[in-house]
Amino acid sequence: MRRAADIAGSIPQQIQGVADAAFGRDVAAWQREHGRHTLPWQNTRDAYAIWVSEIMLQQTQVTTVVPYYERFMKRFPDVLALANAAPDDVLAHWSGLGYYSRARHLHRAAIAIRDLHGGRFPDTVEAVESLPGIGRSTAAAIVVFSRGTRHAILDGNVKRLLARYCAIPGYPGDAKTAAKLWEAAERLLPHDDVEAYTQGLMDLGATICVRSRPRCDACPVRAGCAAFREGLVDVLPSPRPRKPLPHKSIVMLILEHDGAVLLEKRPAPGIWGGLWSFPEAAASDDIAAVCAERYGADVAHGERMADVEHGFTHYTLTISPQRLHVRAIELRAGEAQRVWLPLAEVTDAAIPAPVRRIVDLVNAQSRADE
Ligand code: ADE
Repeated sequence: MRRAADIAGSIPQQIQGVADAAFGRDVAAWQREHGRHTLPWQNTRDAYAIWVSEIMLQQTQVTTVVPYYERFMKRFPDVLALANAAPDDVLAHWSGLGYYSRARHLHRAAIAIRDLHGGRFPDTVEAVESLPGIGRSTAAAIVVFSRGTRHAILDGNVKRLLARYCAIPGYPGDAKTAAKLWEAAERLLPHDDVEAYTQGLMDLGATICVRSRPRCDACPVRAGCAAFREGLVDVLPSPRPRKPLPHKSIVMLILEHDGAVLLEKRPAPGIWGGLWSFPEAAASDDIAAVCAERYGADVAHGERMADVEHGFTHYTLTISPQRLHVRAIELRAGEAQRVWLPLAEVTDAAIPAPVRRIVDLVNAQSRADE
């Protein structure tokens, strides 16, 4: 079999130029007919609304994002509402979406827009890119959709599409491969119709040129796709060179007293920084002693729940939750990072997704016990 590396660069330049122009036209025309047009962040020039959507969509699929986006925009309808909000309120509206640094950056960037840009979302791609949490591709997408100016994007889906269309080998997360993909993105960027083209790239990447079993039969650019022509669709883009992810295990302590549970605010920076979570212990700890010493809780009895697995980008985590029924608590002054919260109110707090899952299991168990 020919490898992708053998064929890249083997096409004469004039033919390449004509083919590049056809790519832009075909993607934009396909978008108009088959792409998405009614998502809640479309049909607006409001850079703030577009920015919030682009950040939410960075690591999360459209169907998951839509309800979060609608709640977020209702609570923080403009950049000043977001800048003036308490960090906890912002995180509570992100709770369950994951990758919480996105929410912290969003809030920080809103404050920067309020304090350094007079509350107006900046106009230029350079100024947008200098805000916290906004990279080159996101800055380009915001400016394309809010101002209609001409910039290339390269998010994860577009990397896959271009790696195939241009048969660019290598893992797209590597700097050298990413540089080649950016070159392709710039070269293929059409002069007109950039908004439909940009949305078309995103829509094609999300619905046709998907990672496994792409729908090449429905692809508007398959005639020019090098991977399609050369039978390389299944091997491009090259996968991440895999080292097995490290694994961690922790015990989560669900201290229950009078219908309330103890939550701790997690330190930032760090995993789930700024979110509320159950206290943690190591599997080897004497749990009753930890509860007494750290939390002033006299535990009457406890029971283990089923393990909950969670994957992060850099490791996997097994959480062993334990319900601990507390006879008495010794109230301690000055512990702003800890709160006893009625169980029914926990799901409204800024909590990570696995903690939400555990709360749902506790509620289900309690209902079954009634
Ligand atoms: N993914 C990233 N940005 C998007 C957008 N504007 N529409 C749909 N999916 C996206």
